[in-house]
Amino acid sequence: MGDQSLLDVLLNRHNTTAEWQKIPWHDPDFSRRMLAEHLSQDHDLASRRYEIIDQHVDWIHRTILDAQPAAILDLGCGPGLYMDRLVKLGHTCTGIDFSPASIDYARRNHAGTYRLDNIVTGDYGTGFDLVMLIYGELNAFAPEDAQRIIDKTHRALRPGGKLLLEVMSSETIKQMAGQPPTWYTAESGLFSDHPHLCLQESRFESGRQSTTYYVIEEDNEDIQTYTAMHHPCTDDEYRQMLDAFEPVIFYPSPTDGFFCIAATK
Ligand SMILES: C[S@@+](CC[C@H](N)C(=O)[O-])C[C@H]1O[C@@H](n2cnc3c(N)ncnc32)[C@H](O)[C@@H]1O
Repeated sequence: MGDQSLLDVLLNRHNTTAEWQKIPWHDPDFSRRMLAEHLSQDHDLASRRYEIIDQHVDWIHRTILDAQPAAILDLGCGPGLYMDRLVKLGHTCTGIDFSPASIDYARRNHAGTYRLDNIVTGDYGTGFDLVMLIYGELNAFAPEDAQRIIDKTHRALRPGGKLLLEVMSSETIKQMAGQPPTWYTAESGLFSDHPHLCLQESRFESGRQSTTYYVIEEDNEDIQTYTAMHHPCTDDEYRQMLDAFEPVIFYPSPTDGFFCIAATK
């Protein structure tokens, strides 16, 4: 925060850059704390509870893969909760994620091959039967990065292979933006290992939703800010992004507010 008081930071909070922002999944400490959220069976925040993942994996195996053994690439695989289950169903699975704690956990505990890399810039390899990017993560990328990921996916698939996206509905993203500001205190949590106050504010501006978390720790004058953004798309906009694929089929998701899209190369 330097010379700026806490009040200055908060009063000027909307005079920020137009740059796309994501929460720091790749930061080692943040990723260690996020891993606990992925594995928690009390909520579905970072990954869904195992019971729902079991159902979703079963649907992917039967409906998307016709129960045939496949080479699968999971982009943003987190701690490998999908990959482990899909390996056990006979598939050959690779996961890529840039969260060091998640990749370390997946390598130690789960079947499959795991790579620590950024899915916007990293290499995917080739010859996959299925590439998946699930739980709404596509919407958390700047639109140009989302398109870049889709284009890279097309190159990574064999002809006839499928891209499975699970995206957030526009209504859900707009509802998130309309949530009133809120706050909480905690002894420790996702944003800090220490006692802290977290102020949270959501907005919709320039065609995208953002939620910013202002974290104030005990005995620390600095205020840490974290912003997550999501961009909504219509069905036609998804079809346009996927115009190199045919057919493009829409399916329900196991979670309200999301839906799945399977696109064939
Ligand atoms: C909502 S979580 C979903 C995790 C997993 N797919 C699941 O459902 O259990 C999103 C994941 O995407 C990863 N991620 C976000 N941006 C990424 C990037 N640029 N490169 C690689 N991984 C990324 C995060 O680290 C996180 O593990």
